Amino acid sequence: MAAARGYRLACVMPEKMSMDKRVALASLGASLVITPNVPPDDERNFRNVARRLARERGWFHTDQFANPANPRIHESTTGPEILTQVDGPIGAFVAGAGTGGTLTGVGRFLRSHSPGVRIVLADPIGSRLAHLVSTRHPDVDSPYQVEGIGGSVLPEVLDLTILDEAERVSDEESIETTMRLWREEGLFVGPSSGTAVAAALRVASRPELAGPVVVVLADSWDRYFSKPWLSWHPDPGAGRGGGTRHPRRERNGPSDTVVRNSEVRVPEPPF
Ligand SMILES: Cc1ncc(COP(=O)(O)O)c(C=O)c1O
Repeated sequence: MAAARGYRLACVMPEKMSMDKRVALASLGASLVITPNVPPDDERNFRNVARRLARERGWFHTDQFANPANPRIHESTTGPEILTQVDGPIGAFVAGAGTGGTLTGVGRFLRSHSPGVRIVLADPIGSRLAHLVSTRHPDVDSPYQVEGIGGSVLPEVLDLTILDEAERVSDEESIETTMRLWREEGLFVGPSSGTAVAAALRVASRPELAGPVVVVLADSWDRYFSKPWLSWHPDPGAGRGGGTRHPRRERNGPSDTVVRNSEVRVPEPPF
């Protein structure tokens, strides 16, 4: 969108994000600023660096974690689109929260247009967000592999009052579910989709729902080619949905189809 409108775009992102995302953004002409994976109160955290660069250089700060335009567009477009497609009462809406824009915007719309709907956060184990939704979940803050969702602090746009509950999903279950979506549904999605669908399957197994469960698949697998977990193939001898090996056990022996981060050249940002 920036290229089409003639704006220069600088993207500030933590090291954790895949090399493929860097390559894609750089290929589109964006400048990249990569920050270390440090907590939100550290001045080197990506949000603090973005804020500082915008202030020092007079840039417009999109501030997706705090900008009310983010949930507003989901409330006025994504929510109505879902309701039109489902064409009836929705039992539950399940999504992960990165900025929280999708969950808050769609949640607000469905609350007032689909009586009885349950709004459910799908949260990676390691993220603190589930605990903020319900103290039934432990107060943990530890690393996890799934990208784009969860975190240590509540994003400003995530409105906890519209959430009914949270489901916590491990990296292993997220990745296994992602691979099931590939093999069983032909949906080449990324791992946050596995987190959301794993949570949605739990919600869907409950008898008391008013209608179908709607779940958001936020991105696609081509943003994760450089990630080791993408090369863990299911055991050919295993049945449907089984046999996916645990990522951490495979760390020392990635297959030769892996594009290693060190092999990918990304242009240096001009600052
Ligand atoms: C891969 C992925 N999944 C899910 C989300 C969550 O979307 P939201 O920011 O609307 O909470 C994001 C956010 O950028 C993402 O990058």
